[in-house]
Amino acid sequence: MLSDQDRIFTNLYGIESWSLDAARKRGDWDGTKAILEKGRDWIISEMKDSGLRGRGGAGFPTGLKWSFMPKESSADRPSYLVVNADEGEPGTCKDRDLMRHDPHKLIEGCLIAGFAMNAVAAYIYIRGEFVQEANVLDAAIDEARAAGLLGKNACGSGYDFEVYVHRGAGAYICGEETALIQSLEGKKGQPRLKPPFPANVGLYGCPTTVNNVESIAVAPTILRRGAKWFASLGRPNNTGTKVFCISGHVNNPCNVEEEMGIPLRELIEKHAGGVRGGWDNLLAIIPGGSSVPLLPKSICDDVLMDFDSLRNVQSGLGTAAVIVMDKSTDVVKAIARLSEFYKHESCGQCTPCREGTGWMWRVMERLVIGRAEQSEIDTLLDVTKKIEGHTICALGDAAAWPIQGLMRHFRPEVERRIEEYKAARRATQAA
Ligand SMILES: Cc1cc2nc3c(=O)[nH]c(=O)nc-3n(C[C@H](O)[C@H](O)[C@H](O)COP(=O)(O)O)c2cc1C
Ligand code: SF4
Repeated sequence: MLSDQDRIFTNLYGIESWSLDAARKRGDWDGTKAILEKGRDWIISEMKDSGLRGRGGAGFPTGLKWSFMPKESSADRPSYLVVNADEGEPGTCKDRDLMRHDPHKLIEGCLIAGFAMNAVAAYIYIRGEFVQEANVLDAAIDEARAAGLLGKNACGSGYDFEVYVHRGAGAYICGEETALIQSLEGKKGQPRLKPPFPANVGLYGCPTTVNNVESIAVAPTILRRGAKWFASLGRPNNTGTKVFCISGHVNNPCNVEEEMGIPLRELIEKHAGGVRGGWDNLLAIIPGGSSVPLLPKSICDDVLMDFDSLRNVQSGLGTAAVIVMDKSTDVVKAIARLSEFYKHESCGQCTPCREGTGWMWRVMERLVIGRAEQSEIDTLLDVTKKIEGHTICALGDAAAWPIQGLMRHFRPEVERRIEEYKAARRATQAA
């Protein structure tokens, strides 16, 4: 288990105040000026050495991403940092707690990351429903500005930097980084094709880096304690600590910071009070938010919770939102519900996603009751393959993967329902 001295988010549960005074006592804003004085190259190289991979879902190396930003910026083409606080992925509720209880970690992270990328400002794009969190952030930014930590000559470093909070209006797709930028500009939140990547053409056409809340909030601690310390936690290529969100059929649903690579079973049993009815009552787990394929109990028994281990079992760490389903779950219905979600959230620009998400959902609804032909399972899988990788953004993949996971591990259950439905019909007709 992660030892207390290696914990980054020491106020994850809001036991202490989020205020600047309390945050300073927890070590935030300690020696920030000295970190900035070490220079941009040092910060980026330290972030690269730490091995931190983005916590927003895709797991892209954070230091490398920062290094893509231009070294110089001019008044007519400033650089920006955008923090993705949209947190719409079903099952995910970590950024919300980080902002509510530990906002100064994020704000200090904005300053340091912004400085490393030569940005003039950071925009925190927060999900509109997070009213309390946005209020806390606003108040914490005011505190930091009043203390001279932000604004002109931030932390006495000679560098000017502002942080703004922008409230979204509740569309899942606005969490996709290019849609988020569009929305921030006041346009309709729809993804756009990459390239050009935001580091080249981002907010207002200027160089921009979009990072998840957790990716930015861990940066100050990494730089204070050193890349080596962070890299010593977890496993190679999967380093550090991670906030996991455990929900569903467990005795004690919770957010918890743990070491990357912790066995899934240990995570649930140590922190969430175990599966309802015991581990043997487990049916399946979605290990990384609704977009990644589920895993049956046989794989959950010994899989490790990190990017590479979960990819090796054809799933993913995603946002590390662990959704636990015990044997009382109608797993076909659960996945059909996710299909409805993706259909509802598709922005409609790409034909495979716009038409495909609705088509898949309708088939899934029929499969729940078995009103289908056996051959339709393969047709459905074929359609998921035609959507995956053929759309502007990854929402298409996200809609396809849960269905692929269901068929990979629970196809006999789907086939059984089809046979049962046919038998029931035959019996009705014979009567
Ligand atoms: C449909 C969709 C929704 C997304 N929603 C979020 C989100 O709510 N929060 C987030 O951090 N990343 C989200 N992402 C991922 C972002 O596009 C982007 O990869 C991420 O913010 C990068 O941050 P990171 O490098 O720190 O992980 C979403 C992606 C897609 C395709
Ligand atoms: S994949 Fe779906 S959500 Fe993404 S841009 Fe295309 S239609 Fe919109």
